[in-house]
Amino acid sequence: MSIAIAIDGPAGAGKSTIARLAAKELGYIYVDTGALYRTIGLAAFRRGLTAENKEQIIAMLPEIKVTLAFNDCQEQIVLLDGEDVSGLIRTPEISMMASAVSAIPEVRAYLLDLQRDMAHTNNVIMDGRDIGTVVLPDAKIKIFLSASPECRARRRYDELIEKGMDVKYEDILTDVIARDYADSHRDIAPLKPADDAINVDTSGEDLETSVNKLLGIMRERL
Ligand code: DC
Repeated sequence: MSIAIAIDGPAGAGKSTIARLAAKELGYIYVDTGALYRTIGLAAFRRGLTAENKEQIIAMLPEIKVTLAFNDCQEQIVLLDGEDVSGLIRTPEISMMASAVSAIPEVRAYLLDLQRDMAHTNNVIMDGRDIGTVVLPDAKIKIFLSASPECRARRRYDELIEKGMDVKYEDILTDVIARDYADSHRDIAPLKPADDAINVDTSGEDLETSVNKLLGIMRERL
């Protein structure tokens, strides 16, 4: 039987960085489910679709193939029709498209088996918004990771600046607040902690402190 650890929480709480490091430490596979929604967002964007084109986005699903793979360093790669789009999905534009497509029930259903298959065949730390509530309700450990919107916006801003992107902190903060609202108010699988999730706030903490805190929680329960 494989073991699953679910980490849910809003954008920029540090889920992916913390989960990646914790997975390495435990020898688990890290699965970033946001990348799947981003890939659907990218596919829609490439077809010139917007958030309003719900029917066309649904009609697009059988025509595309989204696959997860892992490189030599056990890092996740996401493929759209065989093309590695792992880098292309990390722009603010695609973030907003990902949020829009993730509110479509057919998109969520489309990605469900792929996510569950990953957890059935590997020990995983899987991060997302509905992993503990919908995707893996039987996960051995569920963590809901959060931080203040300002702190999350600052982290994302630093990340994008480091990548050489031309962005403004105020715009990122507005995006973070808008995405939080959209993700937690949608009808299907809204962002919320599972009843049995452990709530962890990383505001003001450096990465090492957060990783150690999470590893402590995980080791205690594994
Ligand atoms: O974690 P992220 O920022 O890469 O996620 C991109 C978008 O995908 C985010 O707005 C919410 C959505 N998402 C989701 O609805 N369910 C998940 N399990 C993961 C992400």
